Amino acid sequence: MPRLFFALWPDDSARSALAPLARRVAGEGGGRPVPAMNLHLTLAFLGEVAPERVEAARSAASGIHGERFELVLDRVGAFRRAGVGWAGPARAPRALLELQSALDSALRAAGFTLEDRPFAPHLTLARKLGRPVAATSIEPVAWFVGRFALVESARDERAYRDVATWELGKGN
Ligand code: 2AM
Repeated sequence: MPRLFFALWPDDSARSALAPLARRVAGEGGGRPVPAMNLHLTLAFLGEVAPERVEAARSAASGIHGERFELVLDRVGAFRRAGVGWAGPARAPRALLELQSALDSALRAAGFTLEDRPFAPHLTLARKLGRPVAATSIEPVAWFVGRFALVESARDERAYRDVATWELGKGN
């Protein structure tokens, strides 16, 4: 069964800025950097989805009319228990929170089970950290978010593939 999640991809310039940051955080925490091509910010994690339910996920996303927004990642930190190092926004843009919340509601209404934890927007830079990484401000990495994607993750997580993408800022 495909393992699916909704995510935002950085643009090429943001990805180029995030790759060395991923190596730095991985080095500091004694973990593994996420490969540059895999860097993303997750909006909703569906997990394993039966092939006949993929259409329901696509249809839930198709009803969303979010705004475009600038995403500024200006701090790094770590989820210690998960051993994950991340980059995130000190203040999440309203349009990001609205997009995530609309997606969450639409997916739940379509029968998907999602995590109940509050949304903590972050882009994972490194995994399997064995040492703490101090939360610090960074030189901001920003891009304009104009779309979101439904992404399939291979079991080994080495490769991601877009199943579908949706444009933001198209009004109603
Ligand atoms: P993470 O970056 O914080 O680990 C693909 O696995 C994406 O879905 C990752 O970005 C991951 O977030 C996110 N995700 C959220 N909940 C997850 C879960 N229970 N298992 C695996 N990945 C999860």
